[in-house]
Order: sequence, then structure tokens, then C-alpha cells
Amino acid sequence: MKTLRMLVIGMVLAAAMQLAPAARATIVGSAHDFSTNSWNTRQSLCSVCHTIHGATAQLVPLWIHETTHSTFTPYTSSTLTATVGQPDGAALACLSCHDGTVAINSYGGKTNGTPAFVTGNAVIGTDLSKTHPVSFTFDSTLAAADTGLNDPAVKTVPSLGGKTIAQTLLRNGKVQCVSCHDPHKTIGYAPSSGIMLKITTANGALCLTCHNK
Ligand code: HEC
Ligand code: HEC
Ligand code: HEC
Ligand code: HEC
Repeated sequence: MKTLRMLVIGMVLAAAMQLAPAARATIVGSAHDFSTNSWNTRQSLCSVCHTIHGATAQLVPLWIHETTHSTFTPYTSSTLTATVGQPDGAALACLSCHDGTVAINSYGGKTNGTPAFVTGNAVIGTDLSKTHPVSFTFDSTLAAADTGLNDPAVKTVPSLGGKTIAQTLLRNGKVQCVSCHDPHKTIGYAPSSGIMLKITTANGALCLTCHNK
């Protein structure tokens, strides 16, 4: 009996030690922790979105979730300076659950169990005309042309280690959902933010990182 108990304790410890410590500190228990969902037979924390082998696309590193095939209505307004088209890259990854058309549990080439979808406020949908623009280039030229924007190559983000907007918040030079949100809930303000924001919205801090008004 004693040997068996030691073995069980040993197995539990070994399993605990295999988890990535940094990500585990905060994604656990978050809206993106699917490890206890019944359809997640391996109880994996990461593999609903990432794989180790055989990624389907590099929308984000080692992406394995089914990618949305929706056609989106991009943001538009009479005062917009940027040119905004279809979502791509990391935004397309988010929308592969948040447009509401692809099941959360559709990954690894199949839907695992009964399809489950995002609900309530989490559904961004396919009409992006009423949501902050994403998937467009934000560079010094845009900042100069717009005058209401900080220069992303120059303006630093003190709360995220003092690197520039371009280095920390943009992906391939573009504004994406991850410019504001951290899906792992680890970066900057995200661990204490209910909605995974990298920078607090108090006193307009998030917005005033990029906008100057
Ligand atoms: C809900 C989907 C989702 C889950 C679950 C998830 N990730 Fe990610 N991961 C993403 C997205 C989206 C990005 C792109 C983030 C970016 O560009 O800032 C990413 C990027 C990454 C990257 C590369 C860029 C970076 O931020 O360092 C690593 C490494 C990573 N994830 C590891 C993990 C690990 C380890 C787990 C499990 C503990 C995990 N992820 C769980 C969606 C997810
Ligand atoms: C694998 C599916 C999946 C992916 C990919 C995904 N999410 Fe989510 N997300 C969810 C689910 C499920 C919820 C919980 C909402 C609900 O109740 O349906 C959620 C909740 C959220 C919330 C609200 C947080 C809360 O506590 O309610 C935010 C913000 C969010 N996601 C942003 C993102 C962003 C940004 C990305 C891309 C970087 C992303 N998500 C990628 C499935 C996903
Ligand atoms: C410019 C920053 C910014 C960008 C870009 C952005 N968001 Fe958000 N997001 C926010 C803020 C701020 C809120 C809170 C809004 C509020 O409470 O009125 C929010 C709210 C949300 C929520 C609702 C959470 C809830 O439960 O109420 C989800 C889900 C979400 N965002 C996902 C996304 C996805 C997916 C993308 C990309 C298509 C995206 N966001 C792009 C800043 C951003
Ligand atoms: C990562 C940088 C970044 C962050 C953070 C950010 N924005 Fe933006 N936002 C931009 C850029 C770049 C544009 C495009 C401006 C243009 O081309 O006219 C934009 C566009 C907008 C527009 C549309 C302007 C128009 O003329 O139609 C509004 C409104 C806006 N942002 C509000 C906000 C608010 C509110 C926040 C904080 C919750 C925020 N933004 C956070 C970069 C950012």
C-alpha cells in the first residue's frame, strides 16, 4: 500500500512539474483554460490552440485550432486614415473562436465531441465595422499622416519594459487583437484584468499609449 501511495504522489508531482510555469501562473482558471472541459480528453492547457508537431498554420506560433473561413466586414469611418482590410495573423486566430462560427473544441483536424461555441459578450461576430480596427499597418508614416497618433517606432511603453509600441504591441507592424489583449493573461496588467488587457484602461492609459488625445 505504502509503495502504491508513494507512486501515486510521485506521478502527481511529475505531472505538475511538466506544466509551463510562467503561462500556468495565469492562464489557469482563465476563460482560456479549457483543461477541465469534458471534450478535452488529454486535459491539456495549451493544445486547443497550439501543437508540438504538425501545426496547421503559423497565424500564431504552432497554431492547431481550426481557422475561421468567414468573410468579415472591416472597420470603416470618415475620419479613419489607415486602410483596413480582412483580419489576418493573430487577429484571425482570435476570431477563430470569437467570430462565433467555429467551435471552441474544433482543433487538431476534428471537432472533439459536441461543438461548443463562445457566448454572450465574447462573440465579436463577423461584422468588425463596430469594433476597434485590427490587422492594419501602424507605422511612422500613418502617425505623421494622422497627427492623432504617437509614432510607434519612437513612443515607448514603460509598463511593458520600455520597448517601443512597434516592438511590444504590434505584430508584423500591424495592430491586432493582441496589441491590447494577452490570451495567456501573463503580460503587464493582464493577470489582474478581467478581460486580459496588457495595459490598464484607468486614466485612458491603454488608449493613450497609441493615441495622443
Ligand atoms: C486560447 C488559445 C491559446 C491557448 C489556450 C494558449 N495559447 Fe499560446 N498563443 C495564443 C495566441 C493567439 C498567441 C499569439 C500571441 C501574440 O502574438 O502575442 C500565442 C502565442 C504563444 C507563444 C509565442 C509568443 C509568446 O507569447 O511568447 C508561446 C510560446 C505560447 N503561446 C505558449 C503557450 C502555452 C505554453 C500555452 C499553455 C500553457 C498556451 N500558449 C496556450 C493562443 C493560445
Ligand atoms: C479556442 C477558442 C478561443 C480562442 C482561439 C480565443 N478565445 Fe478568447 N475566449 C474563448 C472562450 C470560450 C471565452 C469565454 C467566453 C464565453 O463564456 O463563451 C473567451 C473569453 C475571452 C475574453 C473575455 C475574458 C473573460 O474572462 O470573459 C477575451 C477578452 C478574449 N477571450 C480575447 C481573446 C483574444 C484577444 C484572442 C486571440 C489572441 C482569443 N480570445 C482567442 C475562446 C477562445
Ligand atoms: C485597441 C485595443 C483593443 C483591440 C485592438 C481589441 N480589443 Fe477587445 N477589448 C478592448 C477593451 C478596452 C475591451 C473592454 C471594452 C468594454 O468593456 O467596453 C475589450 C473587450 C473585449 C471582449 C469582451 C469581454 C467581455 O466579456 O466583455 C472580447 C471578447 C474582446 N475584447 C476580444 C477581442 C478580439 C477578438 C479582438 C480582435 C478582433 C479585440 N478584442 C481587439 C480592447 C481591445
Ligand atoms: C496599439 C495601438 C493602439 C491602441 C492601444 C489603441 N488604439 Fe485606437 N487606433 C490605433 C490606430 C493606429 C488607429 C487608426 C487611426 C487612423 O488611421 O485614423 C486607431 C483607430 C481608433 C479609432 C477610430 C478612429 C477613426 O477615425 O475612425 C478609435 C475611435 C480608437 N482607435 C479608439 C481607441 C480607444 C478608445 C482605445 C483604448 C481602449 C484605443 N483606440 C487603443 C491604435 C491604437
